[in-house]
Amino acid sequence: MKTPIPALSSLADRVAPESHSNPSPHGIPDGTPDGNSSGLADDAWVVHTRAMEKARAGEAVIFLSIGQESNETTPNEIVETAVASLHAGDHHYNEVEGTPEVREAVANYHQRLTGQHVAASQCLMYCGAQNGLFAVAQALLEPGNEVVLSEPYYTTYPACFTASGATAKRVTLRAEDGYRLNVDRLLAAITPKTRALVLNTPNNPMGECYKQSDLERIVSACVERGVWLIMDMVYAELVEPENLALPHGIPGADDIVISVGSVSKSHRMTGWRAGWVVAPQRVANTLRHLSTCMHYGISSFVMKAVTHALNHDTETPRIIRAALAERRALVQQHLAGQPSVNLIDSGQGMFVLLDVSHTQLTAKAFALSLLEKTGVSVLPCDGFGAAGRYLVRISLAVDSLNLVSACNAIAAFSVSLNAGAD
Ligand SMILES: Cc1ncc(COP(=O)(O)O)c(C=O)c1O
Repeated sequence: MKTPIPALSSLADRVAPESHSNPSPHGIPDGTPDGNSSGLADDAWVVHTRAMEKARAGEAVIFLSIGQESNETTPNEIVETAVASLHAGDHHYNEVEGTPEVREAVANYHQRLTGQHVAASQCLMYCGAQNGLFAVAQALLEPGNEVVLSEPYYTTYPACFTASGATAKRVTLRAEDGYRLNVDRLLAAITPKTRALVLNTPNNPMGECYKQSDLERIVSACVERGVWLIMDMVYAELVEPENLALPHGIPGADDIVISVGSVSKSHRMTGWRAGWVVAPQRVANTLRHLSTCMHYGISSFVMKAVTHALNHDTETPRIIRAALAERRALVQQHLAGQPSVNLIDSGQGMFVLLDVSHTQLTAKAFALSLLEKTGVSVLPCDGFGAAGRYLVRISLAVDSLNLVSACNAIAAFSVSLNAGAD
């Protein structure tokens, strides 16, 4: 079914939060959008790209540089649902915001995960959470606005949120806070120009899950000051529910929280490019106009697969959680207490980090040298903001055998650096 194309001029009316002690900002952004020289996310992948070149040339590489279980595939039932949909002739345009079935599935899933009751009309499908984040940024932000990011952040955030003309304001996690969010500092970054605050739980790269009491203060401040709270929840299902605090049940959250999710990590579906945004109705209405010009709807067979995954497959996220816990224990066993690198493990999410500052190398130099000498690819976090200059991210998404080999190689490499420094 083809839906009529709405008047795109309505997009000019970007959505402002309802509670308004924060006047609607106008004007041109002051200076460049942010302090990231390129403003692009590509720099972050230099080591990973080099590792891919080596692998293509036939060299043995262990990839700890990417947040996907490359050795695993999407559960068969989900694949079969998509194949059956294609064979059944499901080849046509659909509603741009997603079919009623998939939106209903997202609404129910969102309620199970967050406790927040939402209507299917508040849920819109996108080509992955990344596409959803970009759409939200386009719908809410304009030149003159500020968006507050906790740094280190997922590498695409600065470009994603400043493409609208808004300015990124970074609040850097500090070692003295245990690399955890300091809410006083976060809230102090809100100014009359602030239009949105972005949180990601569990966070990439640090793995932090926020405290309920912190979220209460954040929601209350956002409501009072008329700031949207954008929650990136792509990793939320990788945390045991009892360890995951979310803002959705906090008074006022219904009006200001915008949630972005996907099946990428929870159901081993990174390549399907399927995600969603759940938003207050009037934001959802604006997003619908954007969807019309951004993608005109996502693929029918993908929506069938997502509907099946969300309605029927609670087992895969459970299996992934168990695998991550097992691998996390192995990394602890092999990398904790190393003389020249310091393991930082939040206990949650898909990653752990190494602080390499004692090696005298930057994260990028450490990772490049590690790759050349051992064939292990880790991700330097400089692309995640300046706070990541001496942090490398290790993905727990590889099987235990490869993970242990990689950890042994990292440990030996670190010791060799230490010996060199003596
Ligand atoms: C924090 C974060 N947000 C969003 C994304 C994008 O997810 P998707 O594959 O659903 O687009 C990623 C991917 O790694 C991520 O780490």
